[in-house]
Amino acid sequence: MQIDEQTFKNAMAQLAAGVTIVTTLHDGTRFGLTATSTTSVSIEPPQVLVSVATRLDSHRAIAESGVFAVNILGAEQLEEAKVFAGMRQEIEDRFEPFEHYTAATGSPILANVLVWLDCEVSHAYDGEDHTIYVGRIVDGEVKRPGQPLLYYGRRWGRVATLPPSRVQLIEGSVLTLSDATVEQRVKWVEDLAEAGVNRFRAPAFSDMMDRQQAMLDALPLIEGIDYALAVDDVAAIDAAAEFGATIVEIAPSAPDQVGLAAQAKALGMRVNGQIIPSPNSSLEDLKNKMDRLLEAQVDEITVSDLGGSITPAWLRRYLSVLTSWAGPSPIILQLDDRFGLGLANVQTALEEDVRAFVTTVGGLANRPALEDSAYLMNQSGVVTGIEIGEVCGIARQMSYALQRQMPGRLHKQM
Ligand SMILES: Cc1cc2nc3c(=O)[nH]c(=O)nc-3n(C[C@H](O)[C@H](O)[C@H](O)COP(=O)(O)O)c2cc1C
Repeated sequence: MQIDEQTFKNAMAQLAAGVTIVTTLHDGTRFGLTATSTTSVSIEPPQVLVSVATRLDSHRAIAESGVFAVNILGAEQLEEAKVFAGMRQEIEDRFEPFEHYTAATGSPILANVLVWLDCEVSHAYDGEDHTIYVGRIVDGEVKRPGQPLLYYGRRWGRVATLPPSRVQLIEGSVLTLSDATVEQRVKWVEDLAEAGVNRFRAPAFSDMMDRQQAMLDALPLIEGIDYALAVDDVAAIDAAAEFGATIVEIAPSAPDQVGLAAQAKALGMRVNGQIIPSPNSSLEDLKNKMDRLLEAQVDEITVSDLGGSITPAWLRRYLSVLTSWAGPSPIILQLDDRFGLGLANVQTALEEDVRAFVTTVGGLANRPALEDSAYLMNQSGVVTGIEIGEVCGIARQMSYALQRQMPGRLHKQM
């Protein structure tokens, strides 16, 4: 039995594939085609294959030159993919719009790709209307971290990682509320801990200590609850240790991050380092910031939005890169909701496998609301351990006690 062409195409449309551009140079002319048939073949020696239609000029060019290069495209390189698939009829020279250079074999390499592999044809197998060219890799480079471009179901796409099964929602405002009494703050912390919140953060910089001390004195140390205190100098670290903090967050402005981190570790606390991206942070700026934190041997990294510069597009572009640099140190996201992108950012970050978020009850301090975030996660099957109804009740009590409307949505409805 044989299946018809349409069924075959429908079947293969279900196979998600990374998109590459296969190039060659023959008789001084550059050739290139978009190809999803690129596959790895062997490790020793390193070889890849690509299946090329016999009707294409590129087919003859590879056969006669005996060389080809594989360019693996990033998710932003849709235009390259279309041009090299012949979808831009008006373009005569496919290479002309894009920066490119020449690999050792002479095959063209596109400058902005994720990866390039320069190959010499080691085998060519007859595949009827295609030829399977196996190439032995003679040179190559992973040029930059980033998300690959995908082709699936006749559409272009990018990776959406399955959301993590469990996420931690950290509370980041109750301890900071300057218009609540110490007793009120302590009571809300106790109630939130009952409702499943297991980590609270608060600034405890030296110059705030006289204001914060009364609250720290009154806060109960509860089994299984972490207090993360933001610190900026040695005195603040000592105070945090004395209080019983399990985590300190070293302020990015602190002068000696390496020394402070070592001091905190010596006192038995975990160390959190922060990266605050600005709207125009380049990849290089982020890398420098990350390197400084890794040098300080932080245990976890908070990417913190001050001012609403993080968007879903930013997260898609940079999170996987930051995660790959961070290695085993988990990334915590502290988002800003001032432009209404809070939950969209939370959703995008879930798809990028972020497992911890700093949120606030009722959405105080421009953060996504803890209960709204928990609801979103709950609806996608992500476990947070948060009793959503309880937190909504606490948010309503806070709104009443503080005499102010809070921006969160769910607590007004439930
Ligand atoms: C997503 C995608 C994947 C493709 N994969 C292959 C492939 O693996 N092998 C191939 O021969 N052609 C493949 N093509 C088609 C070639 O890119 C296309 O036929 C060629 O660039 C057209 O060149 P032409 O306009 O000179 O005929 C693919 C096209 C697209 C859009």
